[in-house]
Amino acid sequence: MQKIISPSILAADFSNLQAACEMINQSDADWIHIDVMDGVFVPNISFGFPVMEAIKKHCKKFIDVHIMIVHPEKYVKRFADAGAQMLTFHYEAAENPQEVIDLIRKEGIKVGITINPDVPVAVLKPYIDKVDMVLLMSVFAGYGGQKFIEESYARLDELKNLVEELNPDCMIQVDGGVALENAAKLYAHGANVLVAGSSVFKAADPVGMIRELLKV
Ligand code: DX5
Ligand code: ZN
Repeated sequence: MQKIISPSILAADFSNLQAACEMINQSDADWIHIDVMDGVFVPNISFGFPVMEAIKKHCKKFIDVHIMIVHPEKYVKRFADAGAQMLTFHYEAAENPQEVIDLIRKEGIKVGITINPDVPVAVLKPYIDKVDMVLLMSVFAGYGGQKFIEESYARLDELKNLVEELNPDCMIQVDGGVALENAAKLYAHGANVLVAGSSVFKAADPVGMIRELLKV
């Protein structure tokens, strides 16, 4: 499957998101990753719809939105209207994951489902053939700049096996602590979409870093 980098603007300078969008526009990244946190599902609050709408105005890449919120079913339409082209919700946050999947499909956008590192991969089994992407969190959702959890490779292997069996077209995304040091190993274990926040935005040359992350 094609390798994709999705730079997470959580690590960008929020006083100049236009510059962050322009950097991504001129880079080899195909996607932009937007992290929405509600202070309830995760202990942190990031930003919401007005910021997403501002990003949409300046961004030419595929808008990949990761929602870390309770009651995802309530906000699907708002996220789609604000520009989400892929909406990834947490299995743990949904009372009825299938309902959320159906609501996202109704908006005509792509669907992703995700789990934190302490949730067994097997819980995803009933949903793998219903979604376009599974996001395997390699840190606990809530903050950028955390250390990559090494156990994620074994979880990726398990997920890759399920995806091959149930829905070979399903993309596998990894998010948290992704950098030049682990990118090749993540691709080798079946990931094809890498979210990269700090490693891109704290790099001296973010465009160059995105190129490197694709080349490894
Ligand atoms: C964390 C977010 C990530 C975050 C990744 O909850 O989902 O997308 O921005 O940041 P880094 O790449 O710095 O670990
Ligand atoms: Zn994320």
